[in-house]
Amino acid sequence: MSTTTVTYLADYRAPEFLIEKTHLTFKLHEGYTDVNSQLTIVRNPHSTHADHLVLHGEQLELLSLAVDEHPLGAGDYQITPQNMTVHNVPEHFILQCKTRIYPEKNTALEGLYRSSGMYCTQCEAEGFRKITYYLDRPDVMSEFETVIIAEEGAFSTMLSNGNCLSDTVYAGKRIVHWHDPFKKPSYLFALVAGNLVCLEDHFSTQSGRQVLLQIYTEAKDSDKCHFAMRSLKKAMCWDEQTYGREYDLDRFMIVAVDDFNMGAMENKGLNIFNTSCVLAHPASTTDAAFQRVERVIGHEYFHNWSGNRITCRDWFQLSLKEGLTVYRDSEFSADTNSRAVKRIEDANVIRSVQFVEDAGPMAHPVRPDSYIEISNFYTVTIYEKGAEVVRMLANILGPEQYRRATDLYFSRFDGQAVTCDDFVQCMEAVSGKDLRQFCLWYSQAGTPQLHISDSYDAARQQYSLTVRQHTPATPGQTEKQALHIPLKIALYGSKGVLALVIDGQNKGTETVLDICQDQQTIIFEQVAENPVPSLLRGFSAPVKIFYAYQLAQLQQLILLDSDGFCRWDAMQSLMRIVLCNAIDGKDNHAEQIMLVDTLKQLLADHASMDVALLACMLDLPSEQYLASLYDKANPTAISQARTQLQQQLAIQLQPELLGCYQTLQDKIQGLSAPAMAARSLRNRALAYLLHINDARYRNLAQLQFAQANNMTDQFAALRALVHTEHAGSTAQEALQAFYQQWQHETLVVNMWFQVQVTRPWGNVLQAVHKLLNHAAFDARNPNKLRAVIAAFTNQNFASFHDRSGKAYQFLADQIADIDQRNPQMAARLLTPLTHWHQFIDEHAILMRKALESLSQCELSKDVYEVVSKSLM
Ligand code: ARG
Ligand code: ZN
Repeated sequence: MSTTTVTYLADYRAPEFLIEKTHLTFKLHEGYTDVNSQLTIVRNPHSTHADHLVLHGEQLELLSLAVDEHPLGAGDYQITPQNMTVHNVPEHFILQCKTRIYPEKNTALEGLYRSSGMYCTQCEAEGFRKITYYLDRPDVMSEFETVIIAEEGAFSTMLSNGNCLSDTVYAGKRIVHWHDPFKKPSYLFALVAGNLVCLEDHFSTQSGRQVLLQIYTEAKDSDKCHFAMRSLKKAMCWDEQTYGREYDLDRFMIVAVDDFNMGAMENKGLNIFNTSCVLAHPASTTDAAFQRVERVIGHEYFHNWSGNRITCRDWFQLSLKEGLTVYRDSEFSADTNSRAVKRIEDANVIRSVQFVEDAGPMAHPVRPDSYIEISNFYTVTIYEKGAEVVRMLANILGPEQYRRATDLYFSRFDGQAVTCDDFVQCMEAVSGKDLRQFCLWYSQAGTPQLHISDSYDAARQQYSLTVRQHTPATPGQTEKQALHIPLKIALYGSKGVLALVIDGQNKGTETVLDICQDQQTIIFEQVAENPVPSLLRGFSAPVKIFYAYQLAQLQQLILLDSDGFCRWDAMQSLMRIVLCNAIDGKDNHAEQIMLVDTLKQLLADHASMDVALLACMLDLPSEQYLASLYDKANPTAISQARTQLQQQLAIQLQPELLGCYQTLQDKIQGLSAPAMAARSLRNRALAYLLHINDARYRNLAQLQFAQANNMTDQFAALRALVHTEHAGSTAQEALQAFYQQWQHETLVVNMWFQVQVTRPWGNVLQAVHKLLNHAAFDARNPNKLRAVIAAFTNQNFASFHDRSGKAYQFLADQIADIDQRNPQMAARLLTPLTHWHQFIDEHAILMRKALESLSQCELSKDVYEVVSKSLM
């Protein structure tokens, strides 16, 4: 790529033309598809008067073009690789256009493509322009009618958005006609044709309308849709109760596809899902995967209001729909599962992935100012940080006002394409609060840091907290302003939580401090003893907290804090102190004793604890997170310290871990929340025990592997065995048996790949090369790329950062190859190399070298953007 175009938010202009009606006819032929479009176009009355209509279109073969039935000749229009310009068009006209496309050659999985024989589409963000010439931008909303024509008998299933008007056979062709009465942008268009089976159910909405629910899969997966169907009905109920949002079409369809670049897509009335996010069966699906299915089903369904009925004006506003919808699905999960655990999972993603993105070359605000390729901005910042921003707004307003504000948003902007500012204005209108400073969360990139110090005045009975905020510079944004940060806190005394009095006002036992200045001090009155502060309760803002806790204070919070997130966070801090001391070669005796003692108390007392929370508390901070604590991290030292601590903890907590494992034995049947929690704690205990070189524990794992009646336990045992260096042939046999048993279940085979490439010992790169040549591997399937390449480079810190730099170059070579077929996937896989600046020179130089070798290749826009920004 020598010429690149950057798109800027500041350049946004309303469209010159609008498309009132879109009528599409797809003629599906083996080898090619002809698309006839008939667009009813009018000049936008609010825009300047252009004479030329400029449509988007890429990789299209134009067969014919007409305006109001008059065929156009060569001089009437002009075509470039990205656009078609039609000269001198009237005020109001019908454009008819015939194009030919080649779905079977589409390996980028964007636009219309074929996945194991079945036709499907992915149009967000800018894929529709690979189907036909169009105003492919979210602020052009149109009413769609779609006709699909194929050989009679070729496909049992032919779907598009909305309601089915007719399904007929004529002259050996099957003709299916769909109509979507809701105006929508082109990115929400979908088409599916294949030989699929369907699970059906019904939902009756709060106003009493009957909705037909359908989940389509290949016949072999027909037994794996029941959980998704239950989740869908639960989500529909939840949205009615929580947001007052009702479904609007007569029919809601979900289709499972094995080749899909992302998780799923919210096309109006016709969601398309990666099989990994919809299929589930107790025998072949882990608890974590069940929860992912429930979450993603909720997410895509919730988009019907937050995304489809109200969409984004332009792609800079992507977080308007994604941040809000992730916040909605996160609350849905919290309401159906453990709220504390969900909060911990969210915080963990923010800390070990989003903060790392913020510290790297791709850092961007929740509402970016510019992009080269919008596909690169489907990020944890847009999604997860965006969700945290909505959560902060919801907390600032409180439940009652937040609900009124979202009601206002949904009624004020229904049917429109709007901005993040429009959303915040509804929050302001209802609450009367001035949210101008808060809006910096949308425009300012980077992770705010809160440096907190305190002092206690016994004579005055006053405790003061001084909070200083600072956001480090990010690329293109050197000056940062103070943000409005809601800091939720409590104070603990020797006998428990203390009453909070500020400025003579009683605040109960928990309060939110509005941190708005560079530095501010809050004084608590009537404090009888020097308290322990419990900070950032419920992870009340996506910030880093710096406060110098004493070990005993951390222990107190771990054992007694009523906030699950804070208990976990205090444990993470204690573990972090031990790990960083080890990494830095410092004496660690007292810290280790404190950690072991605390874990002993928790494990011994597990019967009285939230078991799911305790399971989370056993996890050491991730290597990525530890690396982010250093200016220049040494990856080898980090991995070693972590492995050693795992071993030491296993040895010193042996009786407690084994006790836990055994006493929870009879609590692990079924899919209930307590059973899932018991499994997660037991399997963490098992993984720890396997760090001890003792045949007893390997036998335990082997037994669990052989006897498990669910995938969670079977896979956890396999993982424990494969991940210990001592298991030798036992692990090999288990791997073989697992493959034998599950070779016909694609999603399980992916787990089989993943468990091998994440092994924390030995020459894994060699194993990766072998697996890339395995008969079950397919480099065109994104799930396989994720299971082997992404799992190896993102989840195997030690091997990826091998001193030789071979894994860095391996990744670069793979990306160069994948980029030829699937640029979106290639750019996504690149992420671990973009973090080179985090590491000591020895590694940084090799990572840069790999990036530089890539920059010599012919690259897609997608990969070019990431590589060039990383090398800047
Ligand atoms: N809107 C989809 C979702 O969040 C994701 C689509 C991603 N598309 C892309 N080109 N990255 O559910
Ligand atoms: Zn989404």
